[in-house]
Order: sequence, then structure tokens, then C-alpha cells
Amino acid sequence: MCGIVGYTGPRDAGPVLLDGLRRLEYRGYDSAGIALVTESGDLFVEKRAGKVAVLQDAMGDHPPRAGIGLGHTRWATHGRPSDLNAHPHSDCTGRITVVHNGIVENFRELRDELKAGGHTLQSETDTEVVAHLVEDAYAGDLADAVRVALARLEGAYALVVLHRDEPERLVGARLNAPLIVGIGAGESFLASDAAAIVAYTKQVIFLADGDVADVTPGGAVITDLSGAVVERKIDIIPWSVEAAEKGGYEHFMLKEIHEQPAALTSAMTGRLRHDSVCLEELDPIRDRLTGIDRVELIACGTAYYASLVGAALFQEWLGVPARSTVASEFRYSPPPINARTLVVAVTQSGETADTIAASRLAGDRGALVISVTNTVGSAITRESHAAVFLQAGPEVAVAATKTFVTQVATLVMLAADVAHHLGRLPAAKEQELVAALRRLPEQAERAIELAATTEEMADRYAEAAGFMYIGRSFGYPAALEGALKIKEISYLHAEGYAAGELKHGPISLLDADVPLVAVATRSAVYEKLISNLMEGKARDARVLAVATEGDTQIEQLATDVLWVPDTLEPLSTILAVIPLQLFAYHVAVKRGRDVDQPRNLAKSVTVE
Ligand code: G6P
Repeated sequence: MCGIVGYTGPRDAGPVLLDGLRRLEYRGYDSAGIALVTESGDLFVEKRAGKVAVLQDAMGDHPPRAGIGLGHTRWATHGRPSDLNAHPHSDCTGRITVVHNGIVENFRELRDELKAGGHTLQSETDTEVVAHLVEDAYAGDLADAVRVALARLEGAYALVVLHRDEPERLVGARLNAPLIVGIGAGESFLASDAAAIVAYTKQVIFLADGDVADVTPGGAVITDLSGAVVERKIDIIPWSVEAAEKGGYEHFMLKEIHEQPAALTSAMTGRLRHDSVCLEELDPIRDRLTGIDRVELIACGTAYYASLVGAALFQEWLGVPARSTVASEFRYSPPPINARTLVVAVTQSGETADTIAASRLAGDRGALVISVTNTVGSAITRESHAAVFLQAGPEVAVAATKTFVTQVATLVMLAADVAHHLGRLPAAKEQELVAALRRLPEQAERAIELAATTEEMADRYAEAAGFMYIGRSFGYPAALEGALKIKEISYLHAEGYAAGELKHGPISLLDADVPLVAVATRSAVYEKLISNLMEGKARDARVLAVATEGDTQIEQLATDVLWVPDTLEPLSTILAVIPLQLFAYHVAVKRGRDVDQPRNLAKSVTVE
């Protein structure tokens, strides 16, 4: 949700910032802008509605040389996407310029106050007030002025501020939105995430909420809002820039689908011991886990669908009530929570505002909070007593793929680990599970190979009026996620439904133009699912079934079949979703959609 990058050092800042913006574009892409202090000391600002490529065209082949600058790619909250509302925003003097990710909630009040004080504000954004507040507070020291301005803000922010007259200095600040400092050799960076700067340095400081970073080419001084220096350690980014590039694939989404076998291997690395599962991250909280009598999972979007698998397994293996709730609902209608409640927050980015707020609420009420995230150093890790990482590597496409399968695998391991340590998972069952987990990467590879047929199938389905996806039990989250992929990237309507509910309403949508996509892998509810599939077939709907290799019955019933290898039921969600991802991908390509950056979406949503 908005990408920020800043640079100060000996390189030419313009190309560094444009490169960073391209890598951050998945965070938001309705407008982009850049500010540079040129070698002659002028402030150069260029900003455009549209993608970073539009900004680059506007800047031409020879943007002014500069040693410092900042850039922004936007996902609009306040003020529609336009050249004027694009960031950076400047003060009345044109000396101070600001980029921002988040929402200044009291911006109306601040605007009125600033206007009454003689300021002229140009845009409809909340961000612009920050530039003018810094202008009022400025008395020769940018970091001091930013701290004064921040004291006036309510809401969430990651900010970078630049003053033309201090041409080596960037000031960054964060509260409930991500910001990192990159430390290079004689050069420094600020960025929303590591993807923007990993080509230049792997040494980063993950800023904490309330931090203000005073950044110069020689490094960074971090203070709190009062100006007292705080110590922050330097972390090393464990992946290289190639991991965040397309590597010969046409789209990031396709690359990330193909990375799933390796991502699953990585997610399991160090966590399978002979015949048991062990997540070392839980060691410090084992005492508290023994008293757990209820499990609440919270998440948004794709992570929510993954969390449904976790809830089913916690309930089955621990024998305690467990359920999953979308974080934005959990917050405003929370269940009873106490010290015996385990809350598992699932979030790829670790920065989804609703998931963070729900976790905080649960923690404040005494729950034990575990986060499951792909992002080391992210905000959710500070809201939880233990963090379990997906280890999936960076995911760039807006539509999640490899992080869904690794979320499911990690939640399976988490539930198994807790059940094991509470003595509730029979050894034979755990042994069987570990063996199935070990087979999973190879089976995911096979599922990708088998799904080669989706490209040709997409020709026949791309003009459908809509889709109905159904599944039961562990097939249900796969149906929900399959439908979400279609919606996100092809802009076709798709419903994901519990198969047993089909007859209670949505069946009226089925006809020759609305195919039924049925997750019909081998399971205890297979026969029931087949009955639902037949209900669709009887309404003239074409039936596309996801089925287990070797199922001869389904071939007679379905119009088309997508085959997946056999596995344990709790792991079947992982394999069943793979052909559905590829199906959605090829339908979207056929429909000429922007697969990696679909309209209206952003990869991480840092507003509530
Ligand atoms: C956005 C993304 C989704 C994602 C959801 C939750 O809506 O477009 O792909 O599933 O946020 O993100 P998280 O980072 O919390 O998993």
C-alpha cells in the first residue's frame, strides 16, 4: 500500500530511485513521483498519474543528476489518482518535500488550521499537511522539525522528508506502516521494504513504531519522537536481488507458481525431525501453550483462506474449539479472550492493518499471540509472542500463490507441533503426516506439470459469464482461493462456496455460461461432493473438476479434469490450488489482463 524509497550518496539518485520504485510497484500503482535535489541545489519534482513507466517517460532520458532524492508509488486513499495528488508533496516555500504511506486521520482539522495560518495547499491528500507542518516547525534542523510535526499527526505513517537546503539528509519516520533503513558503503537508503534496495545493500535496520531516522551517506541516527537516541540492530537480508526478478518468466505470478515446490521445501527446512514436527520458534512460549483451551485464527484475503485449514487442524488435533475469522470482523466483534486463548495471526506481508490491529487487541486482552508471516522484521512480529516465518522468499505478484501454499504448510506444522507437545497427536499419525509433508514438494512439481492443460482450457473458459467454485472440508479453502484468483486477475465474477450450500441459493446462477469448478480430490466427503457436482451438471453447467490422479469415475462426470497427486487430506488444499492458480493465470492472460498488477488492488493493505 504505497511504496517509498529514498537515497543519499555518491550515485546518481534518479536511476536508483526509479529502479526502487519499479520493485515496489506491487504495493500500489495508480501514480508515482520523484523529488531530487540537483547538483545546482534546485528541488526537481516530477509526478504522474499511472504507473512508474509513465513517470519515467515524463522524466525523459536525462533527468537531472542528483546525489539525494525520494520516490513514491501510490495506492490512493485520500484524493483520486491524479498528477496533483501523486506524491511527493511540498510546502509553500518549495523547499521541503514529503512522501508518505498510511493515513493522517486528523488531516481535515490540520488542513483548516494550516489554511487559517496562511498556507496554500494544492492537493486533496492527507499527506500534504505534513510538508506544511514541517515548514512551520523548521528552524534549521530537519530532524527536529519532523519530530515536532509528527507530534501533531494521528493515524499511521511511514514518511520520508527532504529539505533542499540540507542536501545530504533524509529524515524517515514510522508508525504502523513499514520503513527500513539501508546501510551501504558511503551511501544510505530508506524504503518500504527490502526489494527496493537489495540490489545495493543487504544491511538494513527495521525501524520500530515511533522511530525517527536521521539518514546521511555515512549512516543513520535513530531517535524516538522526543529526540532521544535509540539503538537498533542491523539485519542482513537473506535473499538476493534475483529472487525479486522475473527470471525469464513472462509474469511474476507464473514464476512464483513455479517456485512453489522450492518454497515448500524451504518452509519445511529445519522443521521436520525424523518422524516429528518441531518449530523452534515456539520454544520460548511452550509453558503458555500447555494451558490453551481455544484457538482463534485471524487473517485477511488469501491468508484467511489458508487459516481455515489451520483452524480445522487445531480443532481436530488439539481437541479444543478453533476457528478463523477475517481480521476486520474480529476487531469489532471479538470473541471472549483470555490468557488461555491462542491467537494465530496469518499475514504474508506482516503489515496488513486489520490483522495487526486484531492481534494487538487480542494481546491486550491477555491472549498468547503467534504470527505466521513471510516478512522478517515486519510489524506483526512485534505484536506477537512468537513469529513463525514462511521462508517462501519474496512474492512480487499482487495475487498470492507461493505464500498461500506455504501458509497452509506452516499452519499444518504449527498445529502438529502444538498437538505433539501437548501429547495429543498420536505418533503414528504424526509419522504419516511427516512422510506426506516430505513428499509434498515433488508432488507440487507434478501438479504444475499436470496443469499444463490449463493453457488450452483457458481458451474454452475465458469468455464465461462467471464461475462457481465449490469444495467441502479441505477442498473448501482451495475453492475459495481458486475463485479469489480468478476475481483478482481476470476481473470475472467467481464465487467460492461450501459445496453443500450450493443448493441453498447459488445454484440458481448456474447455466451453460457459468461453469462449476469442483474441488473433488480424494477425501472422506468425496461422494457428497460428487452429488453436488451432479447438481450442477443437471443445470447445463460445464463442470471443471480438480481430482486425484487415478480417479476413473470423475472422467465420466466432468467436462474437464485437472489432475493432482494423492496426499493426506489436510495437505490436499495445497495441491488442489495449484491447477486453479494456473487456470486463473491463463484465463487472465487470454483476457489481456495486467496479471501482476491487477486494477484496484495492492499487495499489502496498510489501511483499515
Ligand atoms: C491484499 C492482497 C492479498 C492478500 C491480503 C492479505 O488484499 O492483495 O493478496 O491476501 O492483502 O495480505 P497479508 O499480507 O496480510 O497476507
